[in-house]
Amino acid sequence: MSQRPPVSDWSTDFDHLDPRWVENPYPIWDRLRDECPVAHTARYRGVYFPTRFEDVRAVAYDTEHFSSRRIIVRDTPPPRIPAPPITSDPPEHRPAKTVLLPVFTPDAIRRHEPRARDICARLIDRFAGKGGCDAAVEYAQEIPVRLIAHMMGLPEEEGDRFRKWIHEILEAGITEPAILMKALGETAKYFQAEIEKRRAAPGDDLISYLVNAKIDGVPLGEDHLLGSLRLVLIAGIDTTWSAIGACFWHLAQHPEDRRRLAADPALIPTAVEEFLRAYAPVTMAREVIKETTIGGCPFKPGEMVLLSFPAANRDPAVFADADRVMIDRKENRHAAFGLGIHRCIGSNLARMEIAVALQEWLARIPEFRLDPAANVTWSEGTVRGPRRLPVLFG
Ligand code: HEM
Repeated sequence: MSQRPPVSDWSTDFDHLDPRWVENPYPIWDRLRDECPVAHTARYRGVYFPTRFEDVRAVAYDTEHFSSRRIIVRDTPPPRIPAPPITSDPPEHRPAKTVLLPVFTPDAIRRHEPRARDICARLIDRFAGKGGCDAAVEYAQEIPVRLIAHMMGLPEEEGDRFRKWIHEILEAGITEPAILMKALGETAKYFQAEIEKRRAAPGDDLISYLVNAKIDGVPLGEDHLLGSLRLVLIAGIDTTWSAIGACFWHLAQHPEDRRRLAADPALIPTAVEEFLRAYAPVTMAREVIKETTIGGCPFKPGEMVLLSFPAANRDPAVFADADRVMIDRKENRHAAFGLGIHRCIGSNLARMEIAVALQEWLARIPEFRLDPAANVTWSEGTVRGPRRLPVLFG
């Protein structure tokens, strides 16, 4: 947790690592949207924070003034480590994204659904007979790590190692560059060894696919390959784990929604969209590369923008009763998967995982609630979701 001075004014001195923001950011964002829709802080060398959907959208679509070469707000800017396509700008962005798309089409993802169901069922077997479990630790965090390991042709049991790297790169590394560099080195070594294995004996998995993929007839360079593999691993795990965790956090406290979903699983896809809107886990950043104006505010080159898709999703100008979770919300063009050229390529996979996680659990454990004796904790930084979520069954 940060040891910075406490925030004096959210409009002019916000800190996205402040414990109050980490715990419950929505009231802070709602007030900012009313009083100062583009907040600014001098912390982290200067960061803007738009809270209106329209302004978040404007930044996301504007690749002339905003670059993805830095996408995380950090104390000390780390060396630039490419993770194409998420760190790429036009014109490099498009081919780097296109090469990944075939692995994530709806058809390709549908083929992994039985495996996802099997993973969920095996996890539930471990705790269904007990009085409760930690739904974040024992369920949500295990599902995406196991499925992406399967898709990449890696052992499911490597989950602990992958999560350690993710924590070091996305959380601890924000304030400790040495931790970040160590994790980047370890992931490079790990994937280099896997790439060598696939070169010797290709398989039917994502790593083999990328090892053999070409852009304009040319195989991906070593750094590109490593960067994209690291990205697919990181981007797919704690995002989906956070989204699944948030669904269970909500349902543990809203028996009416829980019972309705258990009784009518056909509602699950609509509910998934609403959970994604209301508890969108991912906040990216951009670097301002040319002076411009957004929402009436000047944006200066060299400073960063915290691009809060979660705040955009709570904008009452776009979503009626934005702070209310309505599991049958009809109009729901939310921004949880981003907007513009960097929109998530894993959305089909994530939606499938969340829906399967809910279906399998609700079929076997329809009644559960937060354990009143235990504390729920949330991750800080780029991806927000419950990290401890103790629930009692029945
Ligand atoms: C609920 C789960 C997920 C959420 C909320 C989410 C959210 C996002 C967001 C907001 C972006 C845009 C980033 C930006 O504008 O800079 C993004 C991009 C991306 N996501 Fe996801 N994501 C999720 C799951 C996944 C999964 C499962 C994968 C793949 C295994 C994945 C892979 C990617 C990649 C590769 C990009 C970069 C696309 C580009 O730069 O063109 N994501 N995601």
